[in-house]
Amino acid sequence: MVSNTPVEGDYFLLELASRVVAPLVQPGQFVHVRIPGRNDLVLRRPFSVFRAGDGLLSILYKRVGEGTQSLSELPADAALDILGPLGRGFPPVNPEKLPVLVAGGYGMAALYLVAERAPKKGVVMVGGATGKDILCVADFERIGWEVRVATEDGSRGTRGRVTEVMDAYVAGMEGAAPEFFACGPMGMLKAVAERAIGGSWTAWISLDRNMGCGVGACLACVQKVRDESDGPTWARICKEGPVFECREVIWE
Ligand SMILES: Cc1cc2nc3c(=O)[nH]c(=O)nc-3n(C[C@H](O)[C@H](O)[C@H](O)COP(=O)(O)OP(=O)(O)OC[C@H]3O[C@@H](n4cnc5c(N)ncnc54)[C@H](O)[C@@H]3O)c2cc1C
Ligand code: FES
Repeated sequence: MVSNTPVEGDYFLLELASRVVAPLVQPGQFVHVRIPGRNDLVLRRPFSVFRAGDGLLSILYKRVGEGTQSLSELPADAALDILGPLGRGFPPVNPEKLPVLVAGGYGMAALYLVAERAPKKGVVMVGGATGKDILCVADFERIGWEVRVATEDGSRGTRGRVTEVMDAYVAGMEGAAPEFFACGPMGMLKAVAERAIGGSWTAWISLDRNMGCGVGACLACVQKVRDESDGPTWARICKEGPVFECREVIWE
């Protein structure tokens, strides 16, 4: 590991030297992390890769339970056992469309590489309960993306939900059709999907689910999806996902 520093509230940025995994990472993929020194925490914890390059890989994580609490206490010289990169990430941005990224909380982490590697700049919309849940705005601005913020308590950006910001933006759009890339809570993803389906736009969404093995073996992470003949089937979020086009998902 290289650094493990608090960012804002309960959010931390962990950077590690990784000559093997970092060059392989595609936007939206994740790493499965063993929590060091915690033999009682048998299961690894999944985290989206935030940044990857130059032999370094970083994750942006929220302290929510025992694993992330222990992670937040690790010194910078600790070694970390990670598996990855795992899962099917976001496809390349379609250069004929306008990329619109929509994030809730740490969902920003999964979207940064989409923006960094996109052939054109677009807009990022990020929402959270309070200003403390709004992360990485400066990182996106530094690479030339416009960022629009919404918080439920109005402490930063527009008061309300990120999907309201998205509605206002789309209503005023001219020219290229939007292509959405979204990561955040399930309710937000469903709202993005409804809008994309209603407007006949493409929306790539990254699902978040508690995981077991992270490599497709245990079926702890299944999601009901449509198969090629439109019938219901199950997909493993860790293997066939975490990213799906929103029409693939059966929303219940
Ligand atoms: C593909 C993927 C990418 C992710 N990327 C990130 C990321 O970039 N940054 C980040 O902070 N977190 C991310 N997560 C969520 C992260 O894996 C969990 O927050 C973490 O495993 C919690 O571990 P813990 O031991 O601290 O909490 P636990 O003690 O295991 O759980 C604490 C609480 O968090 C809930 N929880 C556990 N896992 C999840 C989950 N996957 N989603 C929602 N709630 C959960 C539990 O139900 C419980 O209420 C991602 C999850 C997935 C599936
Ligand atoms: S976590 Fe085991 S199959 Fe997905």
